[in-house]
Amino acid sequence: MQNNLKIAIQKKGRLNEPSKKFLASLGLNFTDVNKKLSILCKNKPVNIIKIRDNDIPKYVSQSIVDYGIVGLDVLEESGEKVKIVEKLNFCKCKMVIASEVNSSIKSVKDLQGKRIATSYPKILADYLKKTGIKAKIVMVEGSVELAPYLEAADAVFDITETGRTLKEFNLIPIKTVLKSQAVFIQSPKFSLQKNNLFKKI
Ligand code: PRP
Repeated sequence: MQNNLKIAIQKKGRLNEPSKKFLASLGLNFTDVNKKLSILCKNKPVNIIKIRDNDIPKYVSQSIVDYGIVGLDVLEESGEKVKIVEKLNFCKCKMVIASEVNSSIKSVKDLQGKRIATSYPKILADYLKKTGIKAKIVMVEGSVELAPYLEAADAVFDITETGRTLKEFNLIPIKTVLKSQAVFIQSPKFSLQKNNLFKKI
């Protein structure tokens, strides 16, 4: 395992299946068993490591693993500096600020002094700083769209893919802050020899 190439992918969630498909398209032959956290490939000295996606950027930046597949949203939120080898064109989504249909918040400047719920406080704080808006960031771990409905926030900052969840809670995007997709990232200490395993890249 020590000398094997290690690639981290999301353990479960929307990136898991397309990440495995991408790795198979590189010629890696492996079988995923649900509870297994490390999969040894049958045809190459490669281990696929299944972890929480929030942990992938730091594992890659600290060279604990050689590569990772993660959403650009999660990478940006982590603040880790790693090389993006390739944008993978799957799990495309937008990170938007949205407010309720009947809200007085119709544009970014209306957010002054308001409360915005999000699981992405860093990206939001950076954006607010850039635009000079002072708003309170309400940190939530998930189900962000519920916050205005529960009167815990005046707006949300979250990812939207199909738009279904925003619609369900009568929320309308007022600003796209970031366009995200899955990216293939590389550790700063990757070895050329190991990299030869990926002739296609
Ligand atoms: C994400 C996000 C939204 C939803 C958007 O949640 O937080 O709630 O997907 O997708 P849609 O536009 O297709 O409706 P996810 O399902 O990843 O779960 P989470 O709430 O635990 O983040």
